[in-house]
Amino acid sequence: MSALAVPLQLGFLASHGGSNLQAILDAIATGTLAAQGRLVICNNSSAKALERARAAGVPGLHLSSATHAEPDALDTAMLEALRGHGVELLVCAGYMRRVGARVLVGYRNRVVNIHPALLPNFGGPGMYGLRVHQAVLAAGERLTGVTVHLVDEHYDHGPILAQATVPVQPGDTPEALQARVLQTEHRLYPDTLRRIALGEIDLDAAAAHC
Ligand code: GRF
Repeated sequence: MSALAVPLQLGFLASHGGSNLQAILDAIATGTLAAQGRLVICNNSSAKALERARAAGVPGLHLSSATHAEPDALDTAMLEALRGHGVELLVCAGYMRRVGARVLVGYRNRVVNIHPALLPNFGGPGMYGLRVHQAVLAAGERLTGVTVHLVDEHYDHGPILAQATVPVQPGDTPEALQARVLQTEHRLYPDTLRRIALGEIDLDAAAAHC
């Protein structure tokens, strides 16, 4: 793949709140991240992430099985929308669906995701939302955290790009832990993108070393 140009041309996939999307848009607005938001795609037409996109002047699009019943047609529509808006790096920010094969081929080593645990632990199918933090507490872990990784065809599986730890505190509930981990996500995701823009993280090298 050709090297990523700076400012990074970012596309986003989101399903719900989009607080990570917001943290990245804020980092762009304050100049800490050399990037431009080109497009936000949500599979949920009422996602708050679409409101956040609108407020930041970034085009938003609802694409889902409701707009494209055939998975292949949906995958193609997504790829065309991303390309049509000049997206070069695709950022999954709370996207609750698997990224389609056409998008993954079209954006090989150019799709990143954030997961609210220290992968490879507490990831994979079914490990999302509060379930992740419930599992961490049930396992008696003293430390959890956040992982940013490249996306491949398996859930929460691609090469790890960055991690940050979050201590589990006595008496933590899944909700309290989730809220603390989310604060760390809001720092780690923009910071990882900043390191990609600076060339400190090379996505092709990360993929090759896996
Ligand atoms: C975050 O915990 C993220 O790690 C996970 O989904 C959640 C999305 O939160 N993939 P938000 O939509 O960014 O607020």
